[in-house]
Amino acid sequence: MSFDDLYQEVILDHYKNPRNFGPLDNPTESVKLFNPLCGDTITVDIRVGEDDRVEACSFHGHGCAISQASASMLTEQVRGKSREQALALIDRFKEAMRGERSFDELGDEIGEGIALQGVRKFPVRVKCATLAWNALQKALRGESGTEEVYG
Ligand code: FES
Repeated sequence: MSFDDLYQEVILDHYKNPRNFGPLDNPTESVKLFNPLCGDTITVDIRVGEDDRVEACSFHGHGCAISQASASMLTEQVRGKSREQALALIDRFKEAMRGERSFDELGDEIGEGIALQGVRKFPVRVKCATLAWNALQKALRGESGTEEVYG
């Protein structure tokens, strides 16, 4: 089995069996992003503790396999991180998706998110992969609410 096939399977697994799916109890922030071009929406909820660590992160909404799988992977990677660490990971992930750094540099921090590296070959799908990450970035910055994103 090639790496491409393996990564495809990991993406499909997260799409079919999303981790941390559904609204969170008592979120401290909740951000919904809506893409009017494809009709997809994603909401990311987080609960940040008094120590400024992400205690819980979940997502819900509907969208393409890449956007849903990426959201599922994200929720697994940020739990337990400080707000600062989570924001830094988001920056690095987005840079990797834009081809500005390699996925190898992300190391263990990216977990199964490494399966998304093949998406870089399809520039129009990169926004699908970063949708939830953009929502989480806003949540961590305390920008709860609903927003339209294009592209
Ligand atoms: Fe809409 Fe992927 S096609 S997020």
